[in-house]
Amino acid sequence: MECTQQPAGDSSDNPEATGDAPTRPCAMVIFGAAGDLTKRLVVPALYNLVVAGRLPESFRLVGCDLVAKTSAEWQSGLLAMMQECVVKGDGEFQASRIDPVHWDWLASRMTYLQGDLNDPGCYARLDEHLCGLDKTAGTGGNRLFYLAVSDRFFGPIVDHLGAAGLTHESAGQWRHVIIEKPFGHDLASAMALNARVGAVLDERQIYRIDHFLGKETVQNIMVLRLANGLFEPIWNRNHIDHVQITAAETVGVERRGRFYEKTGALRDMIPNHVFQLLAMTAMEPPISFDADEIRNKKSDLLRSIRPLRYDEAMPEAVRGQYAAGSVLGRPACDYRSEPDVAADSNVETYVACRIQIDNWRWAGVPFYLRTGKYLAARKTEIAIRFRSAPLSVFAGISPAAGNANWLVLRIQPNEGMSIEFAAKRPGPTVHLGAVRMDFSYKDYFHAASGTGYETLIYDCMNGNATLFKRADNVEAGWRVVQPLLDAWAGTAPQGFPNYAAGSEGPAAADALLARDGNAWRTLT
Ligand code: BG6
Repeated sequence: MECTQQPAGDSSDNPEATGDAPTRPCAMVIFGAAGDLTKRLVVPALYNLVVAGRLPESFRLVGCDLVAKTSAEWQSGLLAMMQECVVKGDGEFQASRIDPVHWDWLASRMTYLQGDLNDPGCYARLDEHLCGLDKTAGTGGNRLFYLAVSDRFFGPIVDHLGAAGLTHESAGQWRHVIIEKPFGHDLASAMALNARVGAVLDERQIYRIDHFLGKETVQNIMVLRLANGLFEPIWNRNHIDHVQITAAETVGVERRGRFYEKTGALRDMIPNHVFQLLAMTAMEPPISFDADEIRNKKSDLLRSIRPLRYDEAMPEAVRGQYAAGSVLGRPACDYRSEPDVAADSNVETYVACRIQIDNWRWAGVPFYLRTGKYLAARKTEIAIRFRSAPLSVFAGISPAAGNANWLVLRIQPNEGMSIEFAAKRPGPTVHLGAVRMDFSYKDYFHAASGTGYETLIYDCMNGNATLFKRADNVEAGWRVVQPLLDAWAGTAPQGFPNYAAGSEGPAAADALLARDGNAWRTLT
């Protein structure tokens, strides 16, 4: 349906023009409005955007789901969930209170539409509803469709949106679609999904989310590298010995056994989240902050990673599964006893791999990646180990000060960064000590922490795709891990479960680094 256009403020699709201003008028539709993601992240993030004054007066939010409920019930259910987070102090929503003025602002703009996402009639009614909002609220014909649903709905919803004309952009209007993860479960399915959504939408309209890119500290990797002259000259194989990227969790699979049994740690974390950290760290400097310029550089980097092959004699990757143990002082069961997990499951809950990047900057520099559930500590960090001094003039005078030079980017928790180096211990003799210079976000900036989704939603509303994955980025990530996925699917792992819950991971992961004369940084 062609909609009457309201005056739409800045109707250009120009991200650079936006700065810190409120977003442009639009209606946002959440498919999966009754689901967990909407409650835990999407609506709390919208609330935070309201508090920050980033949503325009004419903003409207439409929830769409199969569950029958009224708009008032939808609103009050979401409010109750947010209040629960405030009281418990856990979850991604970190507010100390919910300001009723801000909540009312948002709630008064929310409507709920019950519908079956497989039914074309649902989209016809949605179209009618949205056109009504254009007339009454001034949403300007601009639409953001957020697919907060299980991945099996991604293709069908996009097809229905297209068939109903909802993705069609008339002059001066924009229609954007946010697609959650997982984007495919291997290379072939990711390519098929790209082709399917690409048949309906222009790549410019597709926003594939990776929530790691919404984390402040992940974005800061770019600022660290590109806004400082200090690091770039030493950011290469001549000065860097190796890099360790860790995404360690203290949670098990929780209630996600069914999902995890089909997924495993490799698929769940490596080609998406961990590769985004890797790409931010290792890509060539872009010549501008333009979305495609940055995504080109990321794709170049991902394409230069040597695909992970299975080699029993010289493994490039190690998998693990947790046995019972104790995590942060609490008893934890083994993976195979988790709900919805097979008693003889061979699915990995831990993976470590050694990545080689075949380009001039990084040839010969190993990048070690690891991620796992139920580990000793929650820690996501990028640790860069610089080459040792070429000559140890202190040998024989003082015991070495350990591996002297590390630059550690702490993504979470205790966000910040530190530089480790050797210093002389005070006293009459020359005695080296390892010291650390530390920058912590919370000491310097007193901003309230968000869910990470605020920036992503805000950017999407403003047509800025820098922090979203392009089709080729996604496929390049899968291409690296596909040989390993195939090999692991066809070979039973040895000795599963092979690490105790609450430990540093399997011994084989240590051996992976020991082969190169290196060792993992401790998690605790
Ligand atoms: C999700 C994975 O994408 O990322 C989860 O599916 C994982 O298994 C989570 O726990 C980690 O994200 P964060 O932000 O908690 O580090």
